[in-house]
Amino acid sequence: MWETIDKPEVLSAIVADTTRLGFIMASEPKTGALLRLLAASKPGARILEIGTGTGISAAWLLDGMDGDSSLVSIENDAQCQDVAKKHIGKDSRVSFICQDGEEFLKSVQDQRFDLVFADSWPGKFNGLQLALNVVARGGYYIIDDLFPQPGWPDGHAPKVPKLVEELEGRQDFVSLKLDWASGLMVLVRL
Ligand SMILES: C[S@@+](CC[C@H](N)C(=O)[O-])C[C@H]1O[C@@H](n2cnc3c(N)ncnc32)[C@H](O)[C@@H]1O
Repeated sequence: MWETIDKPEVLSAIVADTTRLGFIMASEPKTGALLRLLAASKPGARILEIGTGTGISAAWLLDGMDGDSSLVSIENDAQCQDVAKKHIGKDSRVSFICQDGEEFLKSVQDQRFDLVFADSWPGKFNGLQLALNVVARGGYYIIDDLFPQPGWPDGHAPKVPKLVEELEGRQDFVSLKLDWASGLMVLVRL
């Protein structure tokens, strides 16, 4: 087993603040490493993340992005997002927006992104179509937490296989389920 993943330098400081805050929904390193890889495959990319949390996945994305790429990260909890701003907010490639994810998606339906990481309810369990609409041709749509997670609310578990089935049935995307980290799915728009 290869367990060593070289991590972005800033990550340990973000993780320390994340632990202090008691935030338990952060992406794990294997998810981050995949996000970094996919971000690196798209020079000059426009990247969208729904669910900044404390900025852990954003740090991984930034680590893979080139100087011409940009990341917009949406979160509705200002306290979490402030941790991200504190550690990576000075990077001119990233913009943090504190807003409801579905409202944000509605406001950018005329825009296209080369990578969408839908790491919240909006853009995944609600407003799925809104998120898929903004994926550019050849662009990635990525979701994680498809394996049972400790923080899932009552009634959430049956929604996951339904979502996977819906995504696998799409004719406008090619999809791959990955037995990796928390259970991921990567789709590419045809
Ligand atoms: C799984 S966590 C994100 C983790 C983060 N991407 C990471 O990798 O560390 C989901 C985030 O979505 C946020 N969230 C929940 N509902 C939301 C909404 N309606 N609009 C925007 N963000 C929302 C939560 O506050 C939480 O921080």
